[in-house]
Amino acid sequence: MAKIIDGKAISAEIRKEICEEVKSFEAENGFLPGLAVIIVGENPASKVYVRNKKKACEDVGFYSEVIEMPEETSEEELLSVIDRLNNDKKIHGILVQLPLPKHINEESVLLKINPAKDVDAFHPFNVGKIMTGNYDLAPCTPAGVMELIRRSGVEIRGKECVIVGRSNIVGKPQAMLMLAADATVTICHSRTKDLADVCRRADILVAAIGKPNFFGADMVKEGAVVIDVGINRGDDGKLVGDVNFAEVEPKASYITPVPGGVGPMTITMLLKNTLTAAKVSAKKH
Ligand code: GUN
Repeated sequence: MAKIIDGKAISAEIRKEICEEVKSFEAENGFLPGLAVIIVGENPASKVYVRNKKKACEDVGFYSEVIEMPEETSEEELLSVIDRLNNDKKIHGILVQLPLPKHINEESVLLKINPAKDVDAFHPFNVGKIMTGNYDLAPCTPAGVMELIRRSGVEIRGKECVIVGRSNIVGKPQAMLMLAADATVTICHSRTKDLADVCRRADILVAAIGKPNFFGADMVKEGAVVIDVGINRGDDGKLVGDVNFAEVEPKASYITPVPGGVGPMTITMLLKNTLTAAKVSAKKH
């Protein structure tokens, strides 16, 4: 039987630490870490995420702004809001909620964000920093995965880590963070030959392909640490991961549930990145 990695509990623990740090940060610097979240349009899932981000900021005592812009906002208008936030001393983190309406070029928007305030770490400058291993800000989901593993007491150094999924948001940066932690890393994807064979080599398996219940017991080594980044809607409307939990849990040594595993960590890591950005900015002034 695997130990369940409780993302909610670990997330709460980190948020408590952030709360404490915010108090000492304010005492030392006379201002609060500040996050601005921009949402363009009416995507219902995005609205929920943004509401949760705002609430999370309030809970840890950050300054926060939510900028709601209509669907028909032009790219120019959005870029000028980012420009204003880039120059706003109260704001240390800027997050533009994705996806954007189709008429707005996502790359131009991400490039506009001051890399020092890029708390998603999606700007090519920060992507490059992660590649060189010299970074302050790491993308929230892969950073959350690292915290879950570390805080469960699992040693990463020297382990075989297989990541399934090669997205810019999860798979690729996850590989870099694992390398920085001295794992031996393999990245697999939809064209990988003998995927089950490769997965069975993993001491740490990170599942991030977005296919419900895709990973069965035949793809997991006895005693592996299994991290499920998948968030899929089942036929019954319930959330299901990429891992078939019922099959894999008896074989794994540690496993994250869905919901309640990686999910709760992403906003927590956003808070952590905002605090980090504020600290870096305070050092420069
Ligand atoms: N939309 C869904 N996830 C994310 C995220 O992590 N960052 C941003 N900016 N938008 C998202």
